[in-house]
Amino acid sequence: MLLTWLVLALVSCAKASLAARNVDVGSMVVLERVSAIPPAFTHLGTGGVSADEELTLRIALSHSDIEGLQERTYAVSDPANSLYGGHLSTEEIAEFVQPRPETLSAVTTWLTSHGISPVPTSVSPFNDVLQITIPVRQANVLLGADFQAFVHETSGTRMVRTLSYGIPAKMESHIRYVHPTTAFVPPPARAATSPSAAIPASCAFDTNPGCLQDVFGVPSAKANHSSSNVLAVAGYADQYANEADLAQFLDNTRPDLVGSTFSVMMLAGGANDQSIFEAGDEANLDIQYTVGVASGVPVTFISVGNNTQDGVSGFIDIVNAILTMPVGKRPTVLSTSYGFNEQDLPVPLAVAMCNAYMQLGAAGISAIFASGDGGVGGVQSTTCTQFVPSAPGGCPFITSVGGTTNVPPHAASLFSSGGFSNYFPTPSYQTADVTKYVDSLGTLYQGLYNKSGRGFPDVSAASHDIEIVWEGDVTFVDGTSCASPIFASIIALVNDRLIAAGKPVLGFLNPLLYSTQGRSAFTDVTSGNNPGCNTNGFSATAGWDPVTGLGTPNFDALLTAVGL
Ligand SMILES: *[C@@H]1O[C@H](CO)[C@@H](O)[C@H](O)[C@H]1NC(C)=O
Ligand SMILES: *[C@@H]1O[C@H](CO)[C@@H](O)[C@H](O)[C@H]1NC(C)=O
Ligand SMILES: *[C@@H]1O[C@H](CO)[C@@H](O)[C@H](O)[C@H]1NC(C)=O
Repeated sequence: MLLTWLVLALVSCAKASLAARNVDVGSMVVLERVSAIPPAFTHLGTGGVSADEELTLRIALSHSDIEGLQERTYAVSDPANSLYGGHLSTEEIAEFVQPRPETLSAVTTWLTSHGISPVPTSVSPFNDVLQITIPVRQANVLLGADFQAFVHETSGTRMVRTLSYGIPAKMESHIRYVHPTTAFVPPPARAATSPSAAIPASCAFDTNPGCLQDVFGVPSAKANHSSSNVLAVAGYADQYANEADLAQFLDNTRPDLVGSTFSVMMLAGGANDQSIFEAGDEANLDIQYTVGVASGVPVTFISVGNNTQDGVSGFIDIVNAILTMPVGKRPTVLSTSYGFNEQDLPVPLAVAMCNAYMQLGAAGISAIFASGDGGVGGVQSTTCTQFVPSAPGGCPFITSVGGTTNVPPHAASLFSSGGFSNYFPTPSYQTADVTKYVDSLGTLYQGLYNKSGRGFPDVSAASHDIEIVWEGDVTFVDGTSCASPIFASIIALVNDRLIAAGKPVLGFLNPLLYSTQGRSAFTDVTSGNNPGCNTNGFSATAGWDPVTGLGTPNFDALLTAVGL
């Protein structure tokens, strides 16, 4: 009751101050507004933030031609297009993404009139994001905002946010958004669930790299064209990948790979604590199922710290860091086993994140994500009435990987997130599949999901009873977190063969995966479902479904699909 009152009070307060400034300035427009503080956050009360506290804000500028980049990204990723494989150079991407000169000068003039000099920083490789650091007092005036302090209950993360903000009307065509402002984004959830209770006794119950070689036809031969084919693994939430645990894991499961290791790249104050009790189960899983599956492919663990400023815990920062690396040294595949619930991201931020993945795809880098572990209830299981799509699962430029279990082989397990985005429409590469599936549902779940949204996951892989070494002990984990590194490893191994054949790497995968030759490389999964929100969730069926996508990969069939 108290909380409700507080929320209402804050809303009217923010509205009032913005209205007052509207009168003063005469030309402010509200860019974003939230109606209430999300329940996971608490207002720290007046005095929670001082007027002198410095805020680092990012001003996202309008692009020159983002639709043009979208068209080119699809063209270079579609095997039926004559431009297939012609990935764009950084300079070519810049042509589309960088702001027009008039945008830069309009924004600079506006900021200068407030006594602010935007420092062009390396926050975006294409100069489409300006970063400024100003006191709360000045930010309130600049943006007609009312910044206050909030705390995310479960993580204890403090955030300074406003319930609404605006910009002068004449800046509207130049600015996409300013963040962090109204985004109450919880830290990303990882998609690995607690260790399975039973210790598996046989290969049927114990998924390890050897079993994956059998089930998906993953070769054990070491990749030979490694230097230009790096597999990157995203690390968030203070999860460190432990070298000693990896060595023990390889000793147990891939003695032929003993000595293989990974490099670490640190971003935004990220760390690399190698003490055994700082080993992260998620980070260890992700590293053990890349180094241990993508034999001979160099793996880089990207440890993202607390100093991110993109409003999405570094999900955009990591893309910018990769795009800034020299071609030939930067990764060709990025695997991420963390995500958000789509509804926790404001639309402009979700779109910016998806545009970042589009840039990766244009550059020839595959972005592969775990679909999440909450079934139709989101990235983790939640209380819900309507289905909760995960993010960035709904972004059409990523490949979302759902989970299967090997017992019985290829039946979908119970947690694999899947569904339909409320933010992004169904992309053309999957229209026929989504229409067929939605038609098959009839009126089931009518109103609980979005019939015209982008459907996910795209594919699936093993995610149950996965053997890892953690803090020196063998343990077993579940989750689509397992599926993403496994699928990413298979793609990295296909890339190695393509490089050997003098062909371009795969880049943005989906138009290939959904093509006739692409889908023939997958074993359809036709049983299982993904319960959530007090329903049984969607069911796996013949053909694509929002539980297991097109199915599980077969390595040799993938080689055939790419013409090898
Ligand atoms: C790499 O080269 C070695 C030695 O020629 C060969 O045995 C191995 O099969 C090659 N790996 C691949 C993936 O082709
Ligand atoms: C990030 O912040 C958390 C919470 O304050 C802290 O425990 C952790 O050590 C920080 N991580 C790094 C890499 O500094
Ligand atoms: C459903 O998806 C479409 C396409 O992305 C979108 O325009 C619409 O707003 C969504 N509906 C809801 C209720 O979110």
